[in-house]
Amino acid sequence: MTDAMSGTTTPSPPPVDPRTGPQTEMPVLERFRMDGRVVVVTGASSGLGAGFARALSSAGATVVLAARRKERLEALAEELRSRGALASTVACDVADPESCAAMVRAAMDEHGRIDVLVNNAGLGTAVPALKERPEQFRAVVDVNLNGVFWAAKECAAVMGPGSSIVNVASVLGLTAGFAPQAAYSATKAAVMGLTRDLASQWGSRRGIRVNSLAPGYFASEMTDEIPEKMLADITGKTIFGRLGRQAELDAALLFLASDAASFVTGTTLVVDGGMTMH
Ligand SMILES: NC(=O)c1ccc[n+]([C@@H]2O[C@H](COP(=O)([O-])OP(=O)(O)OC[C@H]3O[C@@H](n4cnc5c(N)ncnc54)[C@H](OP(=O)(O)O)[C@@H]3O)[C@@H](O)[C@H]2O)c1
Repeated sequence: MTDAMSGTTTPSPPPVDPRTGPQTEMPVLERFRMDGRVVVVTGASSGLGAGFARALSSAGATVVLAARRKERLEALAEELRSRGALASTVACDVADPESCAAMVRAAMDEHGRIDVLVNNAGLGTAVPALKERPEQFRAVVDVNLNGVFWAAKECAAVMGPGSSIVNVASVLGLTAGFAPQAAYSATKAAVMGLTRDLASQWGSRRGIRVNSLAPGYFASEMTDEIPEKMLADITGKTIFGRLGRQAELDAALLFLASDAASFVTGTTLVVDGGMTMH
């Protein structure tokens, strides 16, 4: 529900505080609804992040789109608004803690609350370790690990009980990759550790759930750059012999973001077509 006078959003019904669990009976599909929830999606200017924003919006959420390329965010916000949804944009470089603080201030000014953070912004580089320069390694850590922490910290400071943070990790945090990706793999494993710690710090004290989503390989601008032979090796490692599709990841994200996962925290949900099961 949105208050037309103030522009603020009120969840209907309020988010489930994981410390008490659901207090009223609700049909199971209703627990996935995001009506009135304000969701910040980082890295929403392309790929999976843009898809997540569309999916959350279609489930009823007000979305705050964040990334560096503001014009791409504006185009997506326009698309969502044309379907009657509420969406705003904010330019943000997640590697900069002050930029993350400004992102949260902008979301609070515009919508009055933040219920969910989708920590999706990410950088994937493939450089042989012996040739990797310090600034290349640091750039990946700055976005994929530090950026996840800065954004989570700023959001958690304003979130109420029942809020949810979903950190987008990767199967490369769990298994060896197909290209030389030391920095990327290290940060994605680190995100899973960070997730556990934040879940434990903020769960009982603040009623905030924190989980990771670990996608396998999904079609995106990132995977568009993978050479054909390597792509065949990758898909050959899945049980189904294919890349994942956005809709298949959206469903898993919606679960973690919504009250459907009110007893789920500190975990990593792997969505990889069976790639890491052996
Ligand atoms: N696609 C896959 O198969 C796959 C698999 C496993 C995990 N993932 C993870 O999923 C997430 C999204 O990846 P994708 O495949 O959708 O890649 P993508 O299309 O390249 O999108 C990456 C997004 O991150 C944003 N970003 C990068 N650096 C940023 C910064 N410093 N500050 C703010 N935003 C920044 C980019 O926006 P701007 O350039 O506009 O800032 C862009 O929106 C990443 O965390 C990635 O590691 C993807």
